[in-house]
Amino acid sequence: MGIIEREFRLRIEPARAKDREAMVEINKAAAPRWHKLRHLNAALQEKRAFIAFLGRIPAGFLIWTKDFYSHYFIDLVVVHPQMRRHGVASALIWAMESSCPGNKLFSSTNRSNKAMQEVFERAGFVKSGFITHLDRNNPELIYYKKIPARASASSGPRSRASRKRKKTGKK
Ligand SMILES: CC(C)(COP(=O)(O)OP(=O)(O)OC[C@H]1O[C@@H](n2cnc3c(N)ncnc32)[C@H](O)[C@@H]1OP(=O)(O)O)[C@@H](O)C(=O)NCCC(=O)NCCS
Repeated sequence: MGIIEREFRLRIEPARAKDREAMVEINKAAAPRWHKLRHLNAALQEKRAFIAFLGRIPAGFLIWTKDFYSHYFIDLVVVHPQMRRHGVASALIWAMESSCPGNKLFSSTNRSNKAMQEVFERAGFVKSGFITHLDRNNPELIYYKKIPARASASSGPRSRASRKRKKTGKK
């Protein structure tokens, strides 16, 4: 791996209090409507969040809960607008899958959010119904993925750079 590629290496970590400022900034830039600080604070305190770095730059985060009929549920995935289409959301979801002790993982997104639907489908989630009357004329689509007994990080989603390396055979 060269110097530049190393600088853009995708890395996922459990989010900690020191990451809060970056998460707030990402949230503001990506989805001002969801700027729910209380939500973010609780997730950090309860260790229910992952943060993604592209090199040293915080790029996105994921918050999960165990409140969906007692199953694990990805509550929110947000990627900074300037960091999108680099596999950040996919890697965050993979980190969640790899550390999810349950065998069922659920999530959801609005019918209007085609990008997130594509992310779920690429990550192997299937549709599992929908809920109306949350957002007006924009049903919430539920997604589900069966988590294999042993999800291995080695077969998880890779950054776009490493996918290209694999295609070209370059290390
Ligand atoms: C949706 C979102 C999380 C995707 O993040 P991302 O890091 O860009 O997603 P990835 O790079 O992992 O995308 C994986 C695949 O999903 C698909 N995809 C992602 N964004 C897409 C878009 N805007 N349009 C079409 N397909 C898209 C592509 O197939 C992509 O693979 P490719 O780049 O090799 O073609 C990001 O756009 C975002 O933060 N949006 C605002 C917040 C939001 O809507 N969150 C979801 C609600 S929980």
